[in-house]
Amino acid sequence: MNNRYIPLTLIVAVLSLAAVAGFLFIPSVQGNPVRVVMDNSGGRVIFTHLNHAEEYGYECADCHHDDIGQELPIACGSCHPAAFDEEFKAQHQKNFPSKEACLRCHDDIPTGPLAEEDKPDTENIPLRADAFHGQCMSCHESDGGPYGEDSCYKCHAR
Ligand code: HEC
Ligand code: HEC
Ligand code: HEC
Ligand code: HEC
Ligand code: HEC
Repeated sequence: MNNRYIPLTLIVAVLSLAAVAGFLFIPSVQGNPVRVVMDNSGGRVIFTHLNHAEEYGYECADCHHDDIGQELPIACGSCHPAAFDEEFKAQHQKNFPSKEACLRCHDDIPTGPLAEEDKPDTENIPLRADAFHGQCMSCHESDGGPYGEDSCYKCHAR
């Protein structure tokens, strides 16, 4: 091969490798976020998602309910909103990747206004902050991690 083609061949080889590597690795990173930033009235929380899912040795289903279909877990707030108000009622029907998700709250997949006896019992579905605090704290209490009265600023930025 003519010597002047060598640099060009090298560049092409490196770019192809980068493309293959990107194809292989980026989807798994997207499917298991490194960090999740949560803005809220208690001060922003930066949740070290990848550490929790890998270093600390948990399964996805330890935190994401695993009865809502095959697709990737969805934002907790789709089901644990700040309030079960009119906005939730209107928005939530298009928030889910699978029909199984509807059955977490409804006996059947609803298609229109609900009769009184078909309405989900929202007393038993924690609202957003309670769902997060509940899950983070109950695990930290038994397995280690920030927990208790003095723990607030270990998760929330001042
Ligand atoms: C220690 C608990 C925990 C573990 C283990 C865990 N997750 Fe999560 N995951 C969360 C929390 C909390 C969120 C934040 C969701 C939100 O902001 O509503 C989240 C968010 C996500 C999101 C982004 C959802 C969105 O659209 O906001 C994806 C995707 C995800 N997790 C996938 C996974 C996968 C795949 C695994 C297993 C490899 C996993 N998670 C393990 C707690 C966990
Ligand atoms: C498809 C809807 C849906 C999604 C998405 C969802 N939840 Fe839930 N969650 C529920 C319902 C409904 C309940 C009420 C009790 C039950 O059915 O287990 C519940 C109960 C809970 C509870 C109290 C009972 C328990 O299992 O400890 C916690 C804590 C909780 N969810 C946290 C979370 C977190 C954190 C996420 C995101 C990682 C999440 N949920 C995502 C629907 C959902
Ligand atoms: C986290 C629990 C939860 C999940 C998951 C859920 N719903 Fe709902 N849904 C509710 C609540 C709460 C209401 C309001 C009931 C009331 O009026 O008191 C509701 C109401 C409805 C209504 C009636 C709206 C109206 O205007 O009367 C429809 C239709 C509906 N849901 C469809 C769905 C569909 C479709 C899915 C899945 C794609 C789904 N829901 C998933 C909790 C949920
Ligand atoms: C299933 C168990 C489990 C759940 C759920 C959980 N954690 Fe943890 N967390 C741990 C363990 C284990 C450690 C490491 C403790 C140690 O090494 O001392 C930890 C450490 C931490 C730390 C300090 C080190 C770091 O990685 O940043 C923070 C902050 C933290 N968790 C925040 C959260 C938040 C926020 C949530 C809820 C969204 C949460 N955790 C849910 C088990 C859990
Ligand atoms: C393990 C981590 C962790 C610890 C410790 C923690 N929080 Fe939180 N807190 C969270 C997460 C996660 C959220 C929900 C973020 C979101 O809604 O996106 C939250 C939400 C909040 C909110 C917002 C509630 C709302 O309805 O908007 C307040 C206020 C709050 N926490 C206060 C506290 C106080 C006070 C303490 C100490 C007693 C504390 N938190 C300890 C993780 C933690």
